[in-house]
Amino acid sequence: MAVVQMRHLRTIERIFLLFGICFAAGSGFCQHVGDAGSTSLFVPGAVWPDTDGMPINAHGGGILFHEGVYYWYGEFKAGKTYLPDCNKSWGGTRVDVVGISCYSSTNLNDWKNEGIVLPAVVDDPKSDLDTSKAVERPKVIYNRKTKEFVMWMHVDIASYAAARCGVAVSEKPTGPFKYRGSFRPNAGVWPINVTDADKQPSETNALARDFAGGQMARDMTVFVDDDAKAYLFYSSEENPTMHVSLLTDDYLRPAAKYSRIFVGRLMEAPAVFKHGGKYYVIASGCSAWAPNAARSAVADNIFGPWTELGNPCTGEDVDKTFHSQSTFVLPLQGRANSLIFMADRWNQWDLPDSRYVWLPLEFADDGKPVLRWKDQWSFDTVPQLGASDASKPHHGI
Ligand code: GAL
Repeated sequence: MAVVQMRHLRTIERIFLLFGICFAAGSGFCQHVGDAGSTSLFVPGAVWPDTDGMPINAHGGGILFHEGVYYWYGEFKAGKTYLPDCNKSWGGTRVDVVGISCYSSTNLNDWKNEGIVLPAVVDDPKSDLDTSKAVERPKVIYNRKTKEFVMWMHVDIASYAAARCGVAVSEKPTGPFKYRGSFRPNAGVWPINVTDADKQPSETNALARDFAGGQMARDMTVFVDDDAKAYLFYSSEENPTMHVSLLTDDYLRPAAKYSRIFVGRLMEAPAVFKHGGKYYVIASGCSAWAPNAARSAVADNIFGPWTELGNPCTGEDVDKTFHSQSTFVLPLQGRANSLIFMADRWNQWDLPDSRYVWLPLEFADDGKPVLRWKDQWSFDTVPQLGASDASKPHHGI
């Protein structure tokens, strides 16, 4: 059932929006409005209007905090959702690429549309950004040395067989981003934890198969550590295994140092964060747009070993991550140790109507990350976790 947040809208816009959505949804819809007097409430899974009253359109995204402003980058999904023949066997629906959107906010409630900061290219099938391609999971990081905003993304053909990383740069957080091209990472480089067996080419060994040309890279994220070193996490080797790769100091290329993690575990949609001096990943399994049970893991060293901590969700629908898939974990600025888990609730047959599930991230007494469903909540109430929350022993799963 659809619900809507209307706190940003003027009366006349509220009437139009309610009329439109009630009409579209049939009946039984007009409840659960995310506004409790002066306190703005976030309603996970609801339509979330921007400051113009239009639904925020930034899927598979991530957030950069820069000079007092949060910038949310994501896939702008519009137009008809269709199932190309090449994806029929696994239900890989798509919309044609429009580009990467950006929204800005100082309070996480009110998001201003900053437009499409990396637009698709029309009628140029050779371009990675052609409307016929896939441009997904954009993440932007700021390089203090070069003063450049660097966007990493997964670029692909409609069947997802290309599995490449794309990079774009901008002088301003709101773009325009200049596309620098794509590649498969770590060509000619073995991972730091490679074994002799890993190096033997065989039909089932994608690592060795792709050694010369570069490793497959699908769902990805980037993470900047306290020492300003940046790391790229990507689902690789046809998806069963993830890689974590150091980036060069300018954040534009892999730096020829990477490791294989979660070997054979089929994890994607990685969201990486640091808490209490340890590294954490929350990720999904691989089931295309359909939700599955989230995974979590912790490590003292970003290259591993990583210890899996199980599904962080508690309560109903935990086997489906509350009908969503991870995309990012956002540290709140000005409130130490407050983290928000961001996820996408994909609508496979109407991708532009996909929604956002954001939840405060907590830690259990045993030191594992915990996500609890909330019908609605306020950004003021995100718990401040003590450093001790993450310094407890982890026993794994
Ligand atoms: C998901 C992935 C999404 C998108 C989708 C296509 O597994 O996380 O980013 O690629 O598959 O079906």
